[in-house]
Amino acid sequence: MTELPKNFLWGGAVAAHQVEGAYNVGGKGLSVADVMTAAGSHDERRITDGVQEGEFYPNHEAVDFYHQFPEDVKLFAEMGFKSFRTSIAWSRIFPQGDETEPNEEGLAFYDRLFDECLKYNIEPVVTLSHFEMPYHLVTEYGGFRSRKTITFFTRFAEAVFNRYKDKVKYWLTFNEINNQSNYNREFTLFTNSGIQVKPGENAEAVMYQAGHYEVVASARAVQIGHKINPDFQIGAMVAFSPVYPATDKPADVLKAQRAMQARFWFSDVQVEGEYPSWLTRYQKAKQFNLDITPEDLAELKKGTVDYLGFSYYMSFATAASDHEDKYYSYNESEDLVTNTYVPRSDWGWQVDPEGLRYGLNWMNDRYHVPVFIVENGIGAIDKLEADHQVHDQYRIKYLRDHIEQMKLAIVEDGVDVMGYTPWSAIDIVSASTGQLSKRYGFIYVDRNDDGSGSLARYRKDSFYWYQHVIETNGDDL
Ligand code: BG6
Repeated sequence: MTELPKNFLWGGAVAAHQVEGAYNVGGKGLSVADVMTAAGSHDERRITDGVQEGEFYPNHEAVDFYHQFPEDVKLFAEMGFKSFRTSIAWSRIFPQGDETEPNEEGLAFYDRLFDECLKYNIEPVVTLSHFEMPYHLVTEYGGFRSRKTITFFTRFAEAVFNRYKDKVKYWLTFNEINNQSNYNREFTLFTNSGIQVKPGENAEAVMYQAGHYEVVASARAVQIGHKINPDFQIGAMVAFSPVYPATDKPADVLKAQRAMQARFWFSDVQVEGEYPSWLTRYQKAKQFNLDITPEDLAELKKGTVDYLGFSYYMSFATAASDHEDKYYSYNESEDLVTNTYVPRSDWGWQVDPEGLRYGLNWMNDRYHVPVFIVENGIGAIDKLEADHQVHDQYRIKYLRDHIEQMKLAIVEDGVDVMGYTPWSAIDIVSASTGQLSKRYGFIYVDRNDDGSGSLARYRKDSFYWYQHVIETNGDDL
């Protein structure tokens, strides 16, 4: 097999709220992640009304990256990272979200973090909004229910673009913006858009409105960023779980096609600058009465992204029911079925390495822009041995199988992949469950689900394996 490009951005990823902790340090305001409790392996986190006495909020301390990042970045450098993806916690910079001036202490923190990365020639890859909206925007404005939140977001984007214009080249606007296509799940609308659906409301319409404001906000941010530094590479970011038809029955194929359209209209708009034809008709037919202006549509055209970032963990499958409407309307919380051809992780995620090659080709055919795998990994229970080793062969296997498929897509199919930043560089607080025990990292952090633990860091077996993968530019897996 031919080699991967020499400048391939090998690295690892995290998000601010899942590692930093220090939730009320340096002037930081509360974010949506700060009002979510911890859940067990198979239930959802609760969203509380502000921070409540007697509740445990795992993101408040997370793994203390805020204080320990110099040592952590040193470990990333030891693994050979060429890039490190993290996010800027919006509420460190604009604690309430609606201020006009940024918080200098918050800005200074990311100066220190990015300088530390650059010291080791590690390129920061920075997400602007990774499930971290200031909580005040939720309580005062209803998050992205409000058009005003577009302005708050772009003000934040402009402040950080200006501040880090010589330190950060790679940006992503909204993390997994398309999670909320599963509009009946409380977690997705809250973390994507700061929204909790009220009784009697049409959650699907609420999602389409919020999603519209977000793609407009993203398009504005792209234009602002390119003015500040024309060399910026600003991407969109979607959760890429392809939806396969359960069988070759034509109705199943149509259902799966609609599912893909419903999950990826966000990137359709962000990459192509316009709404797909099926969606404008669908929104009208369903009488969603959305606030979408001609000026917005012009904005979308001007603010298309430079590349598409995506996460890949699993694939989905769907089947048509006997009573489909003419739109094959997709409701993700009801319409998925089990794919019996692929195994499942301990958390029920369908592990499907070939789905990554499929996805890379699908995106390449559809979008014709470079793509960046900014998350891929497996959440698993790790055992810290008495000698502080962690033998995480299952993680090595998962990553190896996926990298193999990525290489096939690049080398045999010619897909332009910018880099690979698996999830996660170091153990994190799981976004959906709040658990520490759902571990993803190459580096083990001694912290438990209840917040106990020394926070000491240990290299897992996957650390050394990945170090060798990077060293050989993916030749030796
Ligand atoms: C993605 C998110 O959904 O997947 C991350 O961008 C998240 O924030 C990751 O941690 C894994 O999901 P989870 O719920 O297992 O943490």
